[in-house]
Amino acid sequence: MSYPEHRPRRLRRTEAIRSLVRETMLTPACLVYPMFVCPGTGVRKEIPSLPGIYQQSVDRALEECRAVEQEGIGGIILFGIPESKDERGSRAWAMDAPVQQMVEAIRRANLQVVVITDVCLCEYTTHGHCGLVVNGDVDNDATLELLAEVALSHARAGADLVAPSDMMDGRVGAIRHRLDEHGFSHVGILAYAAKYCSAFYQPFREAAASAPQFGDRRGYQMDPANAREALREVALDIEEGADVVMVKPALPYLDVIRAVREAFAVPVAAYNVSGEYAMLKAAVAQGWLDERRAILEVLTAIRRAGADFILTYHAREAARWLRSC
Ligand code: PBG
Repeated sequence: MSYPEHRPRRLRRTEAIRSLVRETMLTPACLVYPMFVCPGTGVRKEIPSLPGIYQQSVDRALEECRAVEQEGIGGIILFGIPESKDERGSRAWAMDAPVQQMVEAIRRANLQVVVITDVCLCEYTTHGHCGLVVNGDVDNDATLELLAEVALSHARAGADLVAPSDMMDGRVGAIRHRLDEHGFSHVGILAYAAKYCSAFYQPFREAAASAPQFGDRRGYQMDPANAREALREVALDIEEGADVVMVKPALPYLDVIRAVREAFAVPVAAYNVSGEYAMLKAAVAQGWLDERRAILEVLTAIRRAGADFILTYHAREAARWLRSC
């Protein structure tokens, strides 16, 4: 039987019917808000290519974190801007650096929002690469030791989940081992498992002052042309002990999110990255897109593709709209 017996429009007739048969739900609880923490006090500096997003000192970031929790947003992910950089990125594992201080402040304030920390060296190294550079190349195995140290410092501060974003081979296993050795078996790992070498990280690199000073990240981040390889990366990270796997960026890689969702039983996260945010905000500023509709459509699409939760700079505005609809 077909038309005229079948009329799909019957289920689109009123908002009440549409919401009854809606397949994909978007809630503030499935959003994670990225925050940039810098040294000092009273600092709140807007990032030009990420309007509405700020570099903030711990005191100001803590204020915003309280608001984020009030808004019902599921979690935050923290990035640090250190007071100084060196060849090894040693401020990345310092307990008195901005991220560690922020996590400790959140714990003292007894906030319940999930605290995730990005584990990487690129914000902390003078050369801007995500690992230790030896003879002009990023040395995979020597980097693992440092990443494990970074993750351990975040766990000591009180992070719920640590999120390695460097794309070195074996880092999930190295981090899991180090955390367990030091009594942090309860701290989870959210692995940036399929992280592509993408043009869409550019505003982030301005925000975190983390652009590579020579070469690029093609030797460790994935080739945008590859999807099967993403499944291999995810399988390896799960084997090494990842609790959650992430695909990044989100919008140009919805097929990868879907493939990972179908192939594995662990939670899947997606990172709606800085360039995706900047692109949308720029069009809105020109009056070319309706902001609310565009943002909710983007986030719904990422959920529909299979993401359980979404890291997004839109988290706060989206949460506001989701509560009022
Ligand atoms: C650190 C890191 C990056 C992002 C998250 N963690 C930048 C990069 O790999 O160059 C990008 C996030 C975004 O663009 O919003 N390695």
